[in-house]
Amino acid sequence: MSKYRKLQSIFIDRIEVNQYIGLDTSILFYNKLRESIKKPLKMILLYGKPGTGKSVLINKIYHDTKEKKEVFLISAPIQNEEEFIKKLYTFVLPKSTLPEDLTYNRFIDICNTLKDKKHITVLLDEAQLYPPSMMEKIRLISDTRVIKFVVSLHKTEKEDVIAKEHFQSRIWETIELKNGTVHDTQMYIQKKLIQQNYFEVSNMFRKSNFRLIHKLTKGNYREINKLIFTLFEIYDHYETSKPSKIAHLHIKNRFIEMSALKLGYIHA
Ligand SMILES: Nc1ncnc2c1ncn2[C@@H]1O[C@H](COP(=O)(O)OP(=O)(O)O)[C@@H](O)[C@H]1O
Ligand SMILES: [Mg+2]
Repeated sequence: MSKYRKLQSIFIDRIEVNQYIGLDTSILFYNKLRESIKKPLKMILLYGKPGTGKSVLINKIYHDTKEKKEVFLISAPIQNEEEFIKKLYTFVLPKSTLPEDLTYNRFIDICNTLKDKKHITVLLDEAQLYPPSMMEKIRLISDTRVIKFVVSLHKTEKEDVIAKEHFQSRIWETIELKNGTVHDTQMYIQKKLIQQNYFEVSNMFRKSNFRLIHKLTKGNYREINKLIFTLFEIYDHYETSKPSKIAHLHIKNRFIEMSALKLGYIHA
């Protein structure tokens, strides 16, 4: 694989805890969520636009706390109610066998018998995919205080309404993830490259590059990934076709603009 192909692959979206990058803002959100989980809350709402790092954060929290605390993660929503309740049951009572006809009502009864004896945390990613009826049940389960839910969902206008109307009464804490600053954008790109030992490539980027990248992506990590991936795609192309074009010590903003054009972020 050519050098630029390898560099491209670094900027493919992935949720790998060993590749987690601590940024000023991400550390802030991480600490906030960890503190919230320690509090006696029923539900915690984690929301933010797609690409702000919700899945990365929730996976990191899960990874860092699963040995110490009873924390469980459901990455992909289980939309079938029966399956979902079964899953929760195995989290709450891992050693006992699953009752044959485990319904939601039965599960609520079980939780009520465990009141004050059992407290677990369940992290629900992509929660915007649960139907409203399921969300309602999730909330009622949280009322038993046996399960504390961390509900992670995309913030769109529609979900904003859901968040306001349905959650207000019972969610005691909300954490909104935001896009990164120029500094976060710089640290994110440099740390990602350095993590893979590309020190010299990291040094090819300058302040003006980061400012432009931030302007084009608004500091959204998924968009940064796409832009840098495309940038190295262009570098890879020139390396074989016209190496003299990229024979510079630093990244030219012109190439970043070309990437943005290719992605439709800007128009010629
Ligand atoms: N702190 C971080 N460390 C490493 N990669 C990150 C971090 N935050 C975001 N990313 C990158 O950004 C991408 C999008 O983040 P993700 O958590 O999937 O966003 P969301 O779930 O909010 O849509 C991830 O695939 C990952 O590559
Ligand atoms: Mg996600």
